[in-house]
Amino acid sequence: MADESVRARRSGGIVINDDWPGYSLDLFNYPAHYSGDLDCVIVPHGVIMDRTERIARNIMDDLGDHDIVVLCVLKGGYQFCADLVDRIKVLSRNSNRSLPMRVHFIRLKSYLNDQSTEDLHILGAEDLSFLTEKNVLIVEAIVGTGKTMQTLLKHVEAFRPKMIKVAGLLVKRVPQNSACLPDYVGFEIPNHFVVGYALDYNEYFRDLNHICVISESGKMKYKI
Ligand code: HPA
Ligand code: MG
Repeated sequence: MADESVRARRSGGIVINDDWPGYSLDLFNYPAHYSGDLDCVIVPHGVIMDRTERIARNIMDDLGDHDIVVLCVLKGGYQFCADLVDRIKVLSRNSNRSLPMRVHFIRLKSYLNDQSTEDLHILGAEDLSFLTEKNVLIVEAIVGTGKTMQTLLKHVEAFRPKMIKVAGLLVKRVPQNSACLPDYVGFEIPNHFVVGYALDYNEYFRDLNHICVISESGKMKYKI
């Protein structure tokens, strides 16, 4: 479909179409305590790992001759960041290029249940003056409207880094998608609330390896 390819070009990630039903949960292992809480597997863990390896290569190609400071956006970004940094380390070791990396963690919180709240909290980002004149790679798990990313970018830009790149594992096709897209995208997904691979619903589901769509009963069970 024409508009799908336009979207693919825009995000640069693997496009998962709106009409794709996902994989049946019966085809994969997942924690028994989540049975009934999920509708389908939308991105299996192995595919996440393979895509992450390729993103690592793209980052190496673009930034391989510079020191970088990785800014991991917690909590949802911890798994993607750990795996991405790991892949970059392997590639760096196996090539003649050496890429000194520092990893710093900041925490954002804006979601309650499956809704974004107006107040975005940035923790651990009060003094980012060590980013001045550095190449910064922001690593996020998911980008929806892009509002969070815009706020964060404005905050980071104030410390005058030499360059800022953003890696986002998932970009969600939401109606109010902003022009603010990550430089490196893993997957572009439909507008579903997804969990797993460190993405949570009220702190649950981070211990699930695959990225899955939460079911209505799962939302009810863990609602606060
Ligand atoms: N899942 C988990 N956290 C999120 C999502 C989502 O779909 N969108 C924004 N934060
Ligand atoms: Mg969350």
